[in-house]
Amino acid sequence: MFHGKCFCQRKNAKLKFIPFDNDGRLEIEKLEGLINKKTKIISVVHVSNALGTINPIKKIIKIAHKYNIPVMVDAAQSIQHIPVDVQELDCDFLAFSGHKIYGPTGIGVLYAKEKWLEQCRPTRVVAIWSISSHLKKRLTCITI
Ligand SMILES: Cc1ncc(COP(=O)(O)O)c(C=O)c1O
Repeated sequence: MFHGKCFCQRKNAKLKFIPFDNDGRLEIEKLEGLINKKTKIISVVHVSNALGTINPIKKIIKIAHKYNIPVMVDAAQSIQHIPVDVQELDCDFLAFSGHKIYGPTGIGVLYAKEKWLEQCRPTRVVAIWSISSHLKKRLTCITI
């Protein structure tokens, strides 16, 4: 959410939230009411870290695609627990970091459909080095 807020501030974009009920379930019947002509992307966590809920991302993607809106899935909390099939989900983007699947820190995966990769060009590549007593980390941030 923090990154989303920062991004929106930089781009002067409006951030809207799908509400959730007392059980922590997204009220996706309210999603279509949040969509308008200016909606550029819908970003959703597959599994919520805070609530432990598994979000109905396939349904969300179906609704979004009715309006030609791409969907970004944050799989940080699902990739290590449940099968994730980007083709079956039909998501446009999906991301998780390497250490979530017990891999090295500082790497990650960003999946994107080819049609989006053709449109999104990296505009900035930033390499940050941080050295701790145990490891030397290289974090690369690509802004698209
Ligand atoms: C849903 C979700 N997305 C993203 C992250 C951030 O992952 P990272 O540890 O790579 O910063 C977390 C962290 O636990 C998370 O729960």
